[in-house]
Amino acid sequence: MMGAAGENSGLIVRGLTTTFDTPRGQAIAAADVDFDVAPGEVVGLVGESGSGKSVTLRSIMRLIREPGHVSGRVEWHGRDLVAMPAEELRKVRGGEIAMIFQEPMTALNPVLPVGVQIEENLVAHTTLNARDRKARALELMNIVGIPAAERRLQEYPHQFSGGMRQRAMIAIALACSPKLLLADEPTTALDVTIQDQILKLLLDLRDRLSMSVVLVTHDLGVVAATCDRMAVMYAGRIVETGTVTDVFNTPHHPYTRGLLGSVPRSGASRTVLQSIEGTPPSLTNLPEGCAFHPRCTFATDLCRKERPPLETVGALGRAVACFHHSQVAAAEAIL
Ligand SMILES: Nc1ncnc2c1ncn2[C@@H]1O[C@H](COP(=O)(O)OP(=O)(O)OP(=O)(O)O)[C@@H](O)[C@H]1O
Ligand SMILES: [Mg+2]
Repeated sequence: MMGAAGENSGLIVRGLTTTFDTPRGQAIAAADVDFDVAPGEVVGLVGESGSGKSVTLRSIMRLIREPGHVSGRVEWHGRDLVAMPAEELRKVRGGEIAMIFQEPMTALNPVLPVGVQIEENLVAHTTLNARDRKARALELMNIVGIPAAERRLQEYPHQFSGGMRQRAMIAIALACSPKLLLADEPTTALDVTIQDQILKLLLDLRDRLSMSVVLVTHDLGVVAATCDRMAVMYAGRIVETGTVTDVFNTPHHPYTRGLLGSVPRSGASRTVLQSIEGTPPSLTNLPEGCAFHPRCTFATDLCRKERPPLETVGALGRAVACFHHSQVAAAEAIL
């Protein structure tokens, strides 16, 4: 999993930990998260609701506010985003690194027309003149499938439907041709045709610009179709990671196995994460040992006492946090 450090190493996340002080105690929303994204690589981040996917992306972009606290290292082309001065970070954010938010309305400015928001981004991060910026804005509207682009650019976010807002946000995010895109459920609100178009667009940008992508999604079909590697999160931790092929073929963590349980091995490509029996743990009151043990059919006394570390298994970049991973990997496929 360790990438070579240096200029062209893309994104290297090490020990990223995000906590929130809540009335019920400290919630550890992301715990010791390690992963790499090489230039041109698409990494899928999956896990059930509340597992820390959005918090991880926001922490990378340094968008966690009080009462949140972030520690660890987020290296982007050799520079640490966690420690970088705010001024420098502003240049990186929205330019080299862009984010598509899960909630479009939190990202769009309600008092500015969509065109102005694209424009602002282009002014901040490119040297395009006014005419070229206008042309670029129109081009982006077309790319993300917003009809009547000329008129739409004058309109405010509240005049857009949910799906159109999502597209507008994607247009803003892609305006400066980022080198790294953090995409949090970018296509969830969209119908299948547009979803396919947008995913195709992301892959195209990956090919043309070596853009790296971290893609958060609930749709394992999307992971299978678009991602090179994937990481599975549970209760704020990465519990399994590897190439999409390896993880789908032989899940080593019981939680991953549960998620994949309902995915047909071939045929239907759209499958939403299966829900697993039991409920996710409270982040302010995690179980001892492995956080998954109360829901796990493989759990033993060891799992109830000690937390399994994320350890490399087999190929480089293949890691799992489970004491019984060999047994899980060897277990018969669930039908
Ligand atoms: N500002 C905050 N204060 C307190 N807790 C927070 C805050 N922001 C997030 N959390 C907690 O962090 C945990 C992880 O949240 P996160 O939004 O990352 O989940 P997620 O994996 O993105 O889920 P979903 O699939 O529903 O989007 C949640 O339990 C959430 O309540
Ligand atoms: Mg989320």
